[in-house]
Amino acid sequence: MTITFITGANKGLGYETARRLVEHGHTVLIGARDPRAGETAAEQLGARFVPIDVTDDASVAAAAADVERHEGAIDVLINNAGVQGPMGDPSGLTGDEVLDVLNVNVAGVVRVTTAFLPLLRRSADPVVVNVSSGMGDLAATRDPARAESRVIAPAYTSSKAALTMLTSQYAKAFPGIRVNAADPGYTATDLNGHTGPQTVTEGTDAIVQLATEGPGHGTGRFVDRRGDVG
Ligand SMILES: NC(=O)c1ccc[n+]([C@@H]2O[C@H](COP(=O)([O-])OP(=O)(O)OC[C@H]3O[C@@H](n4cnc5c(N)ncnc54)[C@H](OP(=O)(O)O)[C@@H]3O)[C@@H](O)[C@H]2O)c1
Repeated sequence: MTITFITGANKGLGYETARRLVEHGHTVLIGARDPRAGETAAEQLGARFVPIDVTDDASVAAAAADVERHEGAIDVLINNAGVQGPMGDPSGLTGDEVLDVLNVNVAGVVRVTTAFLPLLRRSADPVVVNVSSGMGDLAATRDPARAESRVIAPAYTSSKAALTMLTSQYAKAFPGIRVNAADPGYTATDLNGHTGPQTVTEGTDAIVQLATEGPGHGTGRFVDRRGDVG
C-alpha cells in the first residue's frame, strides 16, 4: 500500500490530489493547518487528517511524529501548500510581504522535506512532488501566448522559481529519491479567486502522474499535464 502525505490538502488542488490518489488505492494523509477543514476533508475522502502548518517548525515536527507513530513511513510526499501574496505593481512591495510568501512556498517545503525524509527513506520507492508553477518559469512568463506572461506577481513568481530550483537541488542530493516539480497550470481555486480556466482535475494531472508513475522514471524534472517542461 502506497502511503502519501499531502500538505494543504483541505481544499483546491491538494484536496483533488487526495481524492484521486485515494481512488488509485493510496493511503492518503491530509495535511492541513485548520483542524476543522482537515477533519472534514479527511472524512469526505476516506483519508486521515494530520495537523500541519508549514511555517511552524514545532507543527511540522509534530506532524512527522504523528505519521511516525501511526504509519511508520511514507512513500510519497506532496508539498502542495502555497500562498499567492501581493499581486500587481510592486512599487510598495515590502521585504516582509515577500518573506511571508517565501516562508510558505519555499521554506515550508524545506521544513516539511527535512522532517519527513527519515520516513521517506523507509520506503522501497520514495517520491517527492513539489507543486511549483509555470509562473516561476522564465520561458512561460516571457511567452505572450501564455497566461503566465500577463501577470505581475513578484513574490509568488520568485518563490516558485526558487521551488523549482530547490527541487533540482534535492534531486541531485538524494539519488535514492525521485524528487520532481509539477506545474498544475492556471486552475480555478481559492488561490486566484477561481479565475483559472482549468478544472481541479486538469490541474492535478501532473501531480498525480508524478505521484503514481512508479520506479524507473526520472528525477529533477519539471512537468506539466502535457509532459516534461524541463
Ligand atoms: N491554482 C492555480 O492556478 C495554481 C497554478 C500553479 C500552481 N499552483 C500551486 O498549487 C498549490 C495549491 O494551490 P491551490 O490553487 O489549490 O490554492 P488553495 O485552494 O488556496 O489551497 C492552498 C492550500 O495551501 C494551504 N496552506 C497555505 N498556507 C499554509 C500553511 N502555512 N500551512 C499549511 N497549509 C497552508 C491552504 O490552507 P488553508 O485552507 O488553511 O488556507 C490550502 O489548503 C499551491 O502551491 C499553488 O501555488 C496553483
